[in-house]
This record gives sequence, C-alpha cells and structure tokens, in this order.
Amino acid sequence: MTQPPYVIDEMISAKTIAARIEDLAKEIETAFAGTEKLVVVGLLRGSFVFIADLVRELDLNVEVDFLEASSYGDAMESSREVRILKDLRGEINGRDVLVVEDIVDTGFTLHHVVGLLRSRKPKRLETIALLDKPSRREVDIKATWTGFQIPDEFVVGYGIDYAQRNRNLPFIGKVRFT
Ligand code: IMP
Ligand code: MG
Repeated sequence: MTQPPYVIDEMISAKTIAARIEDLAKEIETAFAGTEKLVVVGLLRGSFVFIADLVRELDLNVEVDFLEASSYGDAMESSREVRILKDLRGEINGRDVLVVEDIVDTGFTLHHVVGLLRSRKPKRLETIALLDKPSRREVDIKATWTGFQIPDEFVVGYGIDYAQRNRNLPFIGKVRFT
C-alpha cells in the first residue's frame, strides 16, 4: 500500500526528549528503589528507541523483555481489537515490572497488555508512555508516567512509524499531508 505524499514537521526535539527521559528515569528509580531487578517490558515495535534510551538512564538492575501486540497495520486508526503477536520470554510472577509504550492513543493496546500482564501476578506493575493523546481516549487508562501530552496529531519518529517508515528520525514530528 502506498501513502499519499506528506512532510514531517518537528514537534519535540531530540534534546527535549533526552531531558525528559532523564527526569522520568529519576522518578522510576525512586519508585522502584530497592528492587532486586526490574523487568522492563518494551511494546514492539514503536517503543524500541524509547526503551533503549530509558534503560540507559536507569540506575537499577534491569532485565529487558519485549512483547508485541497487534497494531494499526498501515492505517492511521486503531483496530480496537488487540492480539498478542509475540509474548514475553521471561516470567513476571512476583516481579517488579515496568511496561514501556510509545503512545497511548485510544488506550486499547495498553489496557489489554496491562490486563494480560496483571493476570500473571507481578509483585508490582507500572507503565510509562513517551506520548499521550488524551483527547483520543476510548478506554479509561492512564500510564503511571507520561513523557509528553500531545494534541490529536499523527506523529512519527523516535521509533514511531507511519506505515513502517520514519522510525529512524531522532525527533518526534507530525505528519502533514501535502
Ligand atoms: P491505542 O491502542 O489506540 O492506544 O494505540 C496505541 C498504538 O497505536 C501505539 O502503540 C502506536 O503504535 C499506535 N499509534 C497511536 N498513535 C499513533 C501516531 O500518531 N503515530 C503512529 N502510531 C500511533
Ligand atoms: Mg505501539
């Protein structure tokens, strides 16, 4: 499928993201102080850049695992039906867990993943989303920590794609059709 022509306008610079992650990492360190080991769960694929930067700021023992939930396909709308495409490799029963998401939009994805992981009885489970679009919410869920609240714009970069493109941009930009 081909996309109509578009340009990308920078919305959040790489520097601003990095500064925010430093602050978030401090809050997470405080919240999980004394943990034996924190299981940091990245939701593929959009969180791969965020999780990479976040764990390198965390002064805690961490284990990194990934889970892939079904996404948009190439569309710009959520399918609202979430399927698990790739499950965790490790056990989380009795463990401290931090779920890392790129964007909370309708909320269906995070809601589903949190429900699934809670059923495995972690000791503690918290969530962090780099971006939040509260005006789009359809399911009542909020990440424990949010990097930035953004308006209802379709964004790309810093791991986030439009039809699998633009994940490699170092900043967050909004898609503008031309
Ligand atoms: P939700 O289930 O509607 O909350 O959707 C969350 C997922 O949709 C995110 O993890 C992203 O992968 C994707 N998504 C939501 N908004 C955007 C966007 O603006 N650009 C690219 N992907 C998005
Ligand atoms: Mg995603």
